[in-house]
Amino acid sequence: MNVIETDGLTKVFGDLVAVDHASISVEKGELFGLLGPNGAGKTTLISMLSTTLPPTSGVARVYGFDVLREPSSVRASIGVVFQEHSLDDRLTARENLDLHGRLYGMEKALRRKRMDEVLELVELSDRANDLVKTYSGGMMRRLEIARGLMHHPKVLFLDEPTLGLDPQTRVHIWDYIKKLNEEGVTMILTTHYMDEADHLCDRIAIIDHGNIVALDTPENLKAKIRGDIISLEVGDGHQMEPLKQSMIKEDFVRDVSLRNNTLRLTVQNGERSIPPILSIAAQSGIKIQSVSLRKPTLDDVFIHHTGRAIREESASLMDRIKRRRRR
Ligand SMILES: Nc1ncnc2c1ncn2[C@@H]1O[C@H](COP(=O)(O)OP(=O)(O)O)[C@@H](O)[C@H]1O
Ligand SMILES: [Mg+2]
Repeated sequence: MNVIETDGLTKVFGDLVAVDHASISVEKGELFGLLGPNGAGKTTLISMLSTTLPPTSGVARVYGFDVLREPSSVRASIGVVFQEHSLDDRLTARENLDLHGRLYGMEKALRRKRMDEVLELVELSDRANDLVKTYSGGMMRRLEIARGLMHHPKVLFLDEPTLGLDPQTRVHIWDYIKKLNEEGVTMILTTHYMDEADHLCDRIAIIDHGNIVALDTPENLKAKIRGDIISLEVGDGHQMEPLKQSMIKEDFVRDVSLRNNTLRLTVQNGERSIPPILSIAAQSGIKIQSVSLRKPTLDDVFIHHTGRAIREESASLMDRIKRRRRR
């Protein structure tokens, strides 16, 4: 059974198409990922699915309920953990959860029971009566997830669940996400971390500028790249372009891209391609400084479909934010 179904789902802000005819279906029990750089349209897409933003056109159904016509039925079956911090840090964890339960019209006894369960689940029982302002970033995130689960949703939306957390805490949060999913909660999470999508998700929709450019299991997405990735660095940056030009001509090189002073080649067989690559470079008088060989990652999949890397995109956004702050 499909828990979520969208057809041509579109959101337009002025002259910006934030989500462009997205058609996805998510099965019961799936851990489904939306992977894309900042501004790709991930939050907009799950905001439409969770009824916080009306679609411009197209349809979306959650458990068979239409997000526009039956929003309260949709809301009753979902939990949402948005990107922004939304706890009241002047209250304790219990008070935050209790408030949420009341908003969902839960009886006191049921609220108590569920609070104990969800606090246990995210291992915050012993800190339940402490003010949230005394919590670390990771603990707050866990509490937000616990709150999203208070009313027993069948579907949980997580928007960038580990954004800004340290690596150790991220792995911890991943464990909770897996645990919940194994208990039968269908999940849709957004992320711009490739390792996160790769590690957690059953299937991934890669989204760029509002378009879903690829959708499959992480394994299949990577397998479609076929072959190996060889990265080359040269000592003299001016030699990069000539090296690129001579590699493009070679039959065994399937794809070439140049970024950040690294030439990235997609080849059928990595081990066998290195010797000819080195001799071609030597013949052109180009000195190779380093060579690395690896299997395709989701970043390569993203580059394959968009011509850019997710990381570059995020980095340039960080630059823009920093510049704005400086001003
Ligand atoms: N309320 C809004 N008004 C105008 N533009 C918006 C609004 N919300 C998002 N956008 C724009 O829509 C695009 C997608 O945004 P978003 O869904 O937040 O991306 P992501 O979550 O993938 O980072 C971005 O270009 C963003 O600036
Ligand atoms: Mg977002």
